[in-house]
Amino acid sequence: MRITIAKKDEVTEGEKMMFAVGEKRLALFNVGGEFYCIGDICSHDDGPVAEGECEGYEIECPRHGAKFDLRDGSVLSFPAIRGIPSYPVEIVGDEITIEVE
Ligand code: FES
Repeated sequence: MRITIAKKDEVTEGEKMMFAVGEKRLALFNVGGEFYCIGDICSHDDGPVAEGECEGYEIECPRHGAKFDLRDGSVLSFPAIRGIPSYPVEIVGDEITIEVE
């Protein structure tokens, strides 16, 4: 199911937006004008990963420092060993949409 989560101008370059879809906590990032959406729950110990610091496409979980790639949710460093969910973003007109189950 594809849903609209924001207008393009609501999340400017370098910004992020946290939101929920049902029970899922998600976060949208604008990195260099491209949008990426990940699940906001760390695969290490359920930390609020989207509240962490970003550097390029990397985000660091604020709880124990695991790093993930915003582009696909893959894990980049310990203590996490698994990636986090990533949701394909598609721009439709001026709206940001994602595909969720
Ligand atoms: S909960 Fe994210 S690194 Fe531990």
